[in-house]
Amino acid sequence: MQISRRQFVTTAAASAAFGAVQLLRPDTSTAQTKVLNLYSSRHYNTDNALYEGFTKQTGIKVNLLEGKDDELLERIKSEGAKSPADVLITVDAGRLWRAEQMGLFASSSSSILNQRIPGNLRHPQGKWYGFSKRARVIVYNRDRVNPSQLSTYEDLANPKWKGKLLVRSSTNVYNVSLVSALIEKLGAGATESWCKGLVGNFARSPSGGDTDQIKAVASGVGDLALCNSYYLLRLVKSKDPQEQAIGKR
Ligand SMILES: [Fe+2]
Repeated sequence: MQISRRQFVTTAAASAAFGAVQLLRPDTSTAQTKVLNLYSSRHYNTDNALYEGFTKQTGIKVNLLEGKDDELLERIKSEGAKSPADVLITVDAGRLWRAEQMGLFASSSSSILNQRIPGNLRHPQGKWYGFSKRARVIVYNRDRVNPSQLSTYEDLANPKWKGKLLVRSSTNVYNVSLVSALIEKLGAGATESWCKGLVGNFARSPSGGDTDQIKAVASGVGDLALCNSYYLLRLVKSKDPQEQAIGKR
C-alpha cells in the first residue's frame, strides 16, 4: 500500500485494525427516548458527519461521550449492568478482543450490518462490526533507503537494518495486534525469532508514539519506522508548517 510519493512512502501488508460498533443494550428503550448513548475513542470530523446523518435519517439524537480507548472499556465495565452505553466505537482488533474478554458486548443480529459488512470484518455472533480499517505501514527516509530494499514485516528483522529501525513500545496495542497477526501467519516460534531480530535492529529504545517515530526518521535518528497510516497523513495535512514539512519533504 502506498500512501505518499513524498518523503515517506509506505509499504507492507495491511494490519488488522478496525473501528467497531457494538450494541451493548439491544433493547428498544433508546429508540423510544430517541437518544443513542455513544461511547467513542475516535475523534474525527468524519464521525460527526456520520452521527448527524444518523440523526437526520432516524430522528434519534446521538449523545456522544468521548474518552481514551482503554479508559472507556474500564468505564463501561465499572458502570456494569447500569451502563447507559448503547454503542461503543473503539479502534484496533486488539481492543475489540479486550472488550469481548471483559464481557462488555451483547450479540446483535442486524441484517443490514450483516449484509453490508463482510464476514471477515465482523464477529461471528455479531458482538462487533468493523467499519473502517487502516494499515500498519513502514515509513522510510527517502535519502537513506531505496524502496526496493523494503518488502515485508518479516524482512524488518533482517540484520541489514541493524541500528536503523524505530518503533514504539511493544506494550502498545498496535504492536500487540501486529505480533498476533504474525503468530497466526508464521507460528509462535518463528515470530519469537522475528521479535528478537527486530529488537536487534532498533535505532534506539522504544520511545513515544507513532508520530514520534515518523519525526525521528525525518530527523535522522533512524532510517525507517513502523506506524499506522493515518499518522503520516495527519502530518502531511497539518496546519503546522513544520509538521507539514516532515510529511511532505
Ligand atoms: Fe492511533
